[in-house]
Amino acid sequence: MYAFKIKGGYPLNGEVDIHGAKNAILPIMVASLLTKEPVHLTNISYLSDVLTLSDLLKSMGMKVKIDKNALTLQADDISSIHADYEFVSKMRASFWVLGPLLARFKKAEVSLPGGCAIGTRPVDLYLNALTEMGAKIKVKNGYVCATGPLHGAEIFFPKVSVGATHNTVMAAVLTKGTTVIHNPALEPEVIDLLNVLVKMGAKISGIGSKILTIEGVDQLHGTTHDVVPDRIEATTFAVAAAITKGKLFLKGARADLMSAVTDVLRISNVQLTQTAEGLLVDAQKASLKATSITTCEYPGFPTDAQAPLSSLLTLAHGDTLIEERIFENRFMHVPELQRMGAQIKVLTTNSILISGVNSLSGAPVMAADLRGGVALVLAALAAKGETQVSHIYHIDRGYYQLEKKLTNVGAHIERIKIDE
Ligand code: UD1
Repeated sequence: MYAFKIKGGYPLNGEVDIHGAKNAILPIMVASLLTKEPVHLTNISYLSDVLTLSDLLKSMGMKVKIDKNALTLQADDISSIHADYEFVSKMRASFWVLGPLLARFKKAEVSLPGGCAIGTRPVDLYLNALTEMGAKIKVKNGYVCATGPLHGAEIFFPKVSVGATHNTVMAAVLTKGTTVIHNPALEPEVIDLLNVLVKMGAKISGIGSKILTIEGVDQLHGTTHDVVPDRIEATTFAVAAAITKGKLFLKGARADLMSAVTDVLRISNVQLTQTAEGLLVDAQKASLKATSITTCEYPGFPTDAQAPLSSLLTLAHGDTLIEERIFENRFMHVPELQRMGAQIKVLTTNSILISGVNSLSGAPVMAADLRGGVALVLAALAAKGETQVSHIYHIDRGYYQLEKKLTNVGAHIERIKIDE
């Protein structure tokens, strides 16, 4: 097993490349199941989630070619409509193959993803939408077994779900008739998927609004696409600059996709300047100030940015109230931050109160999930002394060679092998 060994207290300075968003790459990879022609994606980085999804798609007969920062997928010879537990249990986004398989092959057998560390994460919205569209669905031995044909339908999502929106749209684009989706997710990564589908020949109107109308077409074609930059990776490096009182240029980052985060950073006295090439984050003179955060669907404050910002606000002057409204168990980083000297009171299962302290101290800590894990790395960059963050496979799911990117801008971090 690997861990990060981090010696804190070094301001980060320099330039970091921000790549395509994990949460856009994954659904677009799944969307390539909808056509026989190649889908070519650029601005990719080889996160372990991308490799896990590649393995699942290859197990179904997809051709996957990885080349530098590009990925080409071609589904001209799909031999299986079975998505095995081995893959879906590792990564929830694998479940999204259900919609496209059902639309194109009228049949799918996909393992249920089950719960996960950050909450129960049900799939009722996915299954209800497909049932409205005419799917016959049975759950057997842990698998969703679904058959078509599908037809257009009017879908009302009682709750905003990124994954259920992806899955329903991918089913609807190849389904005869008109599908209307009320209350879809509006996250930039959802919009990126919708834009790719339109480039592939899908007929979708209302993109960016709360009602999507989709006219099914008989077939889609291949396309090329430069994936939207990762606003959560950009947030992570913005916090890395802020927490170390450094100055980083985030090449490729777009502040317009993360205004709820930039608002909090500005309140915390971090200077942000957007240029045509990226986002400059200057915290050299910042004196961090507390604020309050409530996570919410886009354009609200993203749940994925909650843990990284929690780390920053442990060092701000004053009290910060954080409310988590998307997932029920997203404070697993809190006991670890407390071990590093953070003053945090858990008020309820979905709210915490942080009272800023002057400094954190290094300690052995454990990542329990992706964003909570990276939050510990961020805290360690500012802490006095040495921190060892274990279980970093969680972090590798969403950050490619994090230690290399951080070392290049002055962090003292190395990946070390430790006993299980
Ligand atoms: C995606 C992102 C994840 C992000 C989340 C919210 C990817 C790969 N993952 O996850 O990083 O934190 O959006 O922005 O893109 N829900 C139901 N029933 C369902 C589906 C969802 O009740 O059938 C609930 C969930 O439990 C949660 C809420 O809806 O409370 C939002 O979840 P959802 O938007 O679906 O998250 P994901 O798509 O899994």
